[in-house]
Amino acid sequence: MSIVIEVDGRTLGADEGMTILQALRRAGMDAPTLCYHPNLTPVNVCRACVVEVEGSRALVPSCSRRVEPGMRVRTDTERVRRARKVVLEMLASSVDTSTAPELAAHLAAYHGDPARFGSDVARVLEPLRDDNDLYVRDYAKCILCYKCVEACGEDAQHTFALTVAGRGFAARIDTGADAPLLESRCVFCGNCVAVCPTGALMPLIEHRMRQAGEWDESRQHVAETICPYCGVGCALELHVQGNRIVKVTSPADHDITRGNLCVKGRFGFTYVNPDPGGR
Ligand code: SF4
Ligand code: SF4
Ligand code: FES
Repeated sequence: MSIVIEVDGRTLGADEGMTILQALRRAGMDAPTLCYHPNLTPVNVCRACVVEVEGSRALVPSCSRRVEPGMRVRTDTERVRRARKVVLEMLASSVDTSTAPELAAHLAAYHGDPARFGSDVARVLEPLRDDNDLYVRDYAKCILCYKCVEACGEDAQHTFALTVAGRGFAARIDTGADAPLLESRCVFCGNCVAVCPTGALMPLIEHRMRQAGEWDESRQHVAETICPYCGVGCALELHVQGNRIVKVTSPADHDITRGNLCVKGRFGFTYVNPDPGGR
């Protein structure tokens, strides 16, 4: 059923069951998001997407709040802008954002200044977990958006290798008693890596190339093809730099695979050319 809502003085049509964010995006409007992913169940943890809804005392997350007939929404008030800015500043002041372009873009858009909290703010201090041949985990970059947990669990992979352990600044994504990935339930599909918005989960080859100063997205192009390994025929995007495949992804908007792959499709490409950064 189609319903009508008002957003920033504009009348928008929306479908029953849609979230405010979906209605905004369909109308060419937007809100910043970090923990939201179109293929994952919203978990409402980052609060970057908040909006004002008339009648609601608190700001509401647009990524999960469903539209209601006659709802009046404001996305660009001083209160909304301040709330988003502080959330982004707090995240950026506590984790390493050097490989988080979305967060950096939102921060710039809201004129955020994480340095204003001072140089002695608490930061997430986690060692790099480099314990297998396929991807690294750098939880000093983790904003605890839960996307990897969702992708490994009910929303995609159903492997349940990841959970959240600890509290406050000690909270982090865990494999069960901090087990190395090879001793965990992980099947190395990399579906968690694909949804991580900060580079906390990163293919080993990309990590090695970044360390060596060789990773250069401006020199990369994407070639689309079909996975050669089995009859499922997953869509692949080969990220090619200098005539070498350096990463494989799958389009998130594909009807069947929704960005997901198995270990062979995502990581089994180094036979094509010598692995530039792996072991
Ligand atoms: S690679 Fe796959 S199985 Fe392993 S933690 Fe990530 S989503 Fe789970
Ligand atoms: S590792 Fe990445 S996807 Fe997982 S919670 Fe942290 S930032 Fe989110
Ligand atoms: S994007 Fe809505 S709460 Fe994170």
